[in-house]
Amino acid sequence: MRYLLPTAILVAACLCLVPRSIQAQDDTPLGLKKLVWPEDNKPSAEKILLGKQLYFDKRLSRDDTISCASCHDPKKGWSNGEAFATGVRGQKGGRSSPTIINSAYFDLQFWDGRANGLEGQALGPIQNPIEMDLTLDEAVAKLNKIEGYKKQFQKVFGTDVNADGIAKAIAAFERTVLSGGAPHDRFKAGDTKALSEPAQRGMKLFFAKAHCSACHVGPNFSDGAFHNIGIGMEAEKPDIGREELSKQGGDRGAFKTPTLREIARTAPYMHNGTFKTLEEVVEYYDKGAFANPTLDEEIFPLKLTAEEKADLVTYLKEGLSSPKYPDVEPPKLPE
Ligand code: HEC
Ligand code: HEC
Repeated sequence: MRYLLPTAILVAACLCLVPRSIQAQDDTPLGLKKLVWPEDNKPSAEKILLGKQLYFDKRLSRDDTISCASCHDPKKGWSNGEAFATGVRGQKGGRSSPTIINSAYFDLQFWDGRANGLEGQALGPIQNPIEMDLTLDEAVAKLNKIEGYKKQFQKVFGTDVNADGIAKAIAAFERTVLSGGAPHDRFKAGDTKALSEPAQRGMKLFFAKAHCSACHVGPNFSDGAFHNIGIGMEAEKPDIGREELSKQGGDRGAFKTPTLREIARTAPYMHNGTFKTLEEVVEYYDKGAFANPTLDEEIFPLKLTAEEKADLVTYLKEGLSSPKYPDVEPPKLPE
């Protein structure tokens, strides 16, 4: 007890001493945490523009047909509206394109978390033979032939085009693709009119009876962890997901909890795009999901009424769609 008061004073004093630069900044959308940029990849306007150009540039693929935006399209919720992504020469992968909205908040990227951070992720698709299909040497050589890129890399990184700079610039751009300030956030901040009555009922269900927030939790509606919710487990040879990396049998069929922000825009849903609508998703959870030996213990039949299911869907659609959706137009590309 004796120590409580001095401690409180100390804490208060320390808080005042925190420099403004690391306190929440006004440009962080309402409801999100202020982003921590990596020490070795601080933002600048030039770097973010360079990353945006690279993100939209099909020349980063072998046959100049595919860019990052082909599979993570701002007009399609930064996903692609398909169950499976289509890469060069019409090849299809086995998983759906997650949105990259708020991916900046994930330490581990991909459905199975196999890449570290956005910088660690960005060079993967360029080299993936069924996505963009270039070696890093080829990608670097290709961009170095484009005078505009060479100049911009010099300006931003002080070198010609190199792989490290490509990853850093793209990651810097991705860190600007954020969604917050949704009706959910305004409601939480005290604006009681921000959500309709059904959405408010849906919100209560989400955080209590429907148990969604056991995993879809925090500012980005994800615990960043991996869970088996039974998706695809009915297959003879299911995608084992996280187990591939962790080598833990208990991780079989576990995938990263995705964000639910802007969820109304990113159908179809799940790592294999199995559900076309949010109604189908809620129906699936309500029934207790597909039973399998490694099903997460937080998944069980919910026994929601028809009205409750409808309210939950209304909350997801209305509550998590921001009027400040991060829409961007493709930039002019360097020549
Ligand atoms: C052919 C389609 C395709 C292309 C092109 C593509 N991606 Fe992806 N992207 C995917 C798929 C599919 C996944 C999920 C794969 C997995 O989890 O195994 C993914 C995952 C991601 C993730 C992880 C998001 C998360 O929440 O875990 C990020 C970030 C990302 N891609 C960024 C990029 C960038 C940057 C580029 C361009 C350099 C790019 N992608 C090109 C299809 C594509
Ligand atoms: C045990 C953790 C857990 C619980 C509880 C949970 N989810 Fe999920 N959710 C996940 C995981 C993991 C995925 C991705 C699974 C996959 O693709 O295999 C997911 C996927 C989703 C998706 C698809 C997202 C996308 O981008 O494809 C929606 C929508 C969703 N959940 C909504 C809900 C709702 C609504 C509830 C409550 C009724 C809920 N979740 C409860 C972990 C959970």
